[in-house]
Amino acid sequence: MDMLSMREVSKSLAQDIFVRAARMEKGDFERREGVLSTLFFEASTRTKSSFLSAGLRLGLKTIDFPPERSSLSKGESFSDTIRMFDNYSDIMAIRHPREGSARLAAKIAAHPVINGGDGANEHPSQALIDLYTIKKEKKKIEGLKVALFGDLKHARAMHSLMQALALFGADMRIISPPGLEPSYGIMDRINSEFGIKLKATHTPDFSGCDVIYVVRVQEERFVDKYEAKQIKDRFRIKLADVEQAKKDVIIMHPLPKIDEITPDIDASPYAKYYAQASNAVPVRMAIMDKCLESKEGVR
Ligand code: NCD
Repeated sequence: MDMLSMREVSKSLAQDIFVRAARMEKGDFERREGVLSTLFFEASTRTKSSFLSAGLRLGLKTIDFPPERSSLSKGESFSDTIRMFDNYSDIMAIRHPREGSARLAAKIAAHPVINGGDGANEHPSQALIDLYTIKKEKKKIEGLKVALFGDLKHARAMHSLMQALALFGADMRIISPPGLEPSYGIMDRINSEFGIKLKATHTPDFSGCDVIYVVRVQEERFVDKYEAKQIKDRFRIKLADVEQAKKDVIIMHPLPKIDEITPDIDASPYAKYYAQASNAVPVRMAIMDKCLESKEGVR
């Protein structure tokens, strides 16, 4: 089993992963044998390290691939690199700036591939961490009012999360700067798949929200950095904005956060992004455990 897109994750698979993750948190699991490779062709703090930590805790050995010190600098292709790591390992976590790269890797590799982010496209393991966190904090997902706020065009974590929230029946409010609405016709697709009516707004309004999910303006994906800077200055969430929402609202963020959340929120009881980041380990343990259960993953 690969994990490439949230569109390929059913509700029952997601629930299976949540049950496993809860067991991982309690230490109630059987260790697995094998090797995990992390191939990150783009910067990462949490995703790569939490995959490595999750792999080690699960019992796997790990190989980290540093692209800048590899034969890629001699001109070796992505495909050949994947072929080699398919020989060296039993499961791979991949991040790459190009959309579709994880799917290409999965076509080449016999072993499971997990998409740790492909360009601005998808980041399914992050979406599962997010749902797990919401479920833990709010005891349910269905019917919750969830505001999605920030640069929704470039945020792959958000693209996967929108699919995941629709799958579990949450009520989404899409708030982005003009021009940074979710791309790739994501809203149209979700609307027709789930029979809902998502539409983007540009005015921050968090009234009645149970969850506010914030993403940064992804300056590195802008052609014009000056435009990104101007948007960043105007699109920032303050404690006063949060107070429009329900009293027990939680603020989430996939991190890294730059300055889109004011520091007074960090110390408030609303901030759940550090707890969310720590849920990455049990959820990624659960995902790898599930992927390795399928035949292709076992040598
Ligand atoms: C995000 C990513 O790389 O997609 N971070 C993460 O994986 N937790 C978010 C981002 O870079 O803004």
